[in-house]
Amino acid sequence: MTDPTVLSAQAAAAAGQVNEKRQWQRLMEMARFGHIPNNGVNRAAFSAEDIGARARLLEWADEISLPVRVDDIGNLWLRLPGANDELPPVVTGSHMDSQPLGGRFDGIYGVIAGLEALQAIRETGARHSRPIDVVAWSNEEGGRFSPGAMGSAVFTGAMQLDDCLGVTDSDGIRLSDALQATLDATPDLPRRAFGVPLHAYVEAHIEQGPVLERLGLPVGIVDSVQGSRWFEVTVNGNSAHAGTTPLLDRRDALRAAVNAVSALQALMDDPNDTVRFTVGRLDVTPNSPNTVPERVVFSIDFRHPDHAELTRRGDRIAEIVEASAAPCGVEVMETFTRSPCAFDPALLMRLEAYATALGLPHCSLPSGAFHDAVFVAAHCPTAMVFVPCEGGISHNPAENAKPGDLAAGTRLLTATLLDLANS
Ligand code: GLV
Ligand code: MN
Ligand code: MN
Repeated sequence: MTDPTVLSAQAAAAAGQVNEKRQWQRLMEMARFGHIPNNGVNRAAFSAEDIGARARLLEWADEISLPVRVDDIGNLWLRLPGANDELPPVVTGSHMDSQPLGGRFDGIYGVIAGLEALQAIRETGARHSRPIDVVAWSNEEGGRFSPGAMGSAVFTGAMQLDDCLGVTDSDGIRLSDALQATLDATPDLPRRAFGVPLHAYVEAHIEQGPVLERLGLPVGIVDSVQGSRWFEVTVNGNSAHAGTTPLLDRRDALRAAVNAVSALQALMDDPNDTVRFTVGRLDVTPNSPNTVPERVVFSIDFRHPDHAELTRRGDRIAEIVEASAAPCGVEVMETFTRSPCAFDPALLMRLEAYATALGLPHCSLPSGAFHDAVFVAAHCPTAMVFVPCEGGISHNPAENAKPGDLAAGTRLLTATLLDLANS
């Protein structure tokens, strides 16, 4: 048994083979699928843009002769076969969908980094007994079909496919139809089952926060991810004429929703600034200037690194909304729950040792964003590698990262995947 903290010579060589320019060009090419002004990307899950990006990924896989499979929620699995291809694979990857006003790196970097790692390993002729897979998880963002991380959640059994199929987007399109159109675009791909054993999972991602840039470090090793709870609140009132209906006779759903959000802001007040509380979506019906709103649906995204706080504050949301929305009726539905997650200590130790061996200055840090890795962590040993992004800006068209930092993250990823594939 080799020492897991000693980088092998062939892993160091494969890391050195990572091609910064090729990776950058692929990222820029992917950014054309769903391009929006100011360098942004709008590539919703299972949209025409997503289908286009998937097709391009498959062309690259074909050029490098990587066999590809797809599972029933559309996760794509690219494989670099191992000497013993029956062994559970070492896996890397991330997502290809974006936020509506997203950037060029969130998610897609982890997929392209995985592809680059596989190509670098193949080019150096390195030997490995386990297969190494790159997975492109479906619908991580949840911007079109809520909640997010569906691909990894369904693969690992945290969600059931049947519970996702009936979800609709804001145009009333069912996820089942959009997913079918996506699967129909690649009818010849063999299918892969959900829940198969994985040996280990390492996901590369931009940090989406300011820590690495401030410290001037090209890579970060992610030790944990804070917990998240998402809710959908529906406030029911009555529509009425805005010019004639006395205030006391109204059941104004928007007024009630505003009161509820203010009360929630008081609940989430935190002098330490650790709580993350966001109301990012508000749908008003009928959304007309001279009609009192009859219905408002709004989202809540609440996060905290401490499980007790996530429970204490989160469990009060429904009662506070109900108390502050009178005279309207409310329904509060929790749509997504994920406890804080700590990554695998042995894998973290390996990543630290390899970053040092490769001469990559680094630190450990927690993640404020959730990732597919959070779901995979319940299935196999898991960890993440971050690279800095400009100003910590993400979920914004201005999202930016340096080619050299992106390559540094991929070097650490490549070395780690290869040595894991011989463990
Ligand atoms: C993932 O995109 C998140 O919202 O953390
Ligand atoms: Mn992401
Ligand atoms: Mn994101």
